[in-house]
Amino acid sequence: MNGLHFYRRERNQHPPSYTPGYKSAVLRAPFRPLVSPEQSDLEMTGPVFGHSDVSPIDADLIRNAMVTGEAIGERIIVHGRVLDENGRPVPNALIEIWQANAGGRYLHTNDSYMAALDPNFSGCGRCMADAEGYYKFRTIKPGPYPWPNNGSDWRPSHIHLSIFGEAFAQRLITQLYFEGDPLIPMCPIVNTIPDPEVIERLVARLDFKNQMPFDCLAYRFDIVLRGRRQTYFENHPEGL
Ligand SMILES: [Fe+2]
Repeated sequence: MNGLHFYRRERNQHPPSYTPGYKSAVLRAPFRPLVSPEQSDLEMTGPVFGHSDVSPIDADLIRNAMVTGEAIGERIIVHGRVLDENGRPVPNALIEIWQANAGGRYLHTNDSYMAALDPNFSGCGRCMADAEGYYKFRTIKPGPYPWPNNGSDWRPSHIHLSIFGEAFAQRLITQLYFEGDPLIPMCPIVNTIPDPEVIERLVARLDFKNQMPFDCLAYRFDIVLRGRRQTYFENHPEGL
C-alpha cells in the first residue's frame, strides 16, 4: 500500500444511468442500486501505462496521420491542465483523444454518415501531461453529426477524452464541447447531466490570447480528476 486513496465518485454530478431521452442508455441501465467495493491495492499501485510509448507527433492530429498533406478544417489547439479535486496538478497523466473530422465523420467502419472522410486525418491522438499537469493538442475542430435518436438528433462538436492519472482508480472518460455551440443545450447526451454547472465544466473556452498566430485558435479545457485523500499526508512525502 503506498498511501494513495481516492475520494469516491460524486454520483450526483454524473448522469443517472436510466435516461430515456438518450435511448440506447435505457437497456443498459442497471435496475438495482450500485454496490461500491473497497479500493484494492492493485487499483492504487498497479502500473498504468508505458510512458516511453508516447511521442510528440501523437499530440498533433493535423499531421499525425498525414499521407498526402495536412488534415483539412478549422485548426485549433486544445490545452489545459489535469488537476485533482483539490486543484493540484496531476503530473504525467496520459490523455488520449478521439473525434470526428471537420465534416462530423469518424474514421470508423460503423460510421455511415454521408460527410466525406479526410484521408489525412485519423481523429486519434494522445499526449502526456508534464510535471505541472499541463497538456496540449493541435487538431481540427470536429463537425457536428446526426445520430438516430428521437428521429435525427445532432451531437454538438465534441472531442472524446480518456485520462489515466496516477492509478487506475483515476481513469476518466469524458467529452469536451466548445464554447458558444448552440447544439450543446439541445443534445440528449449532454442533457443526461442534471446540473447545468457540471455541463459548463465540460465546455472548452475560447482562449484567444494563446492562439498560434496565423495558424490555430486555442481552446482551454482543464480536466479535474477525482480528488486524492491524503490519508498518510503527514507521515509520507508527496509521491510515495
Ligand atoms: Fe462522438
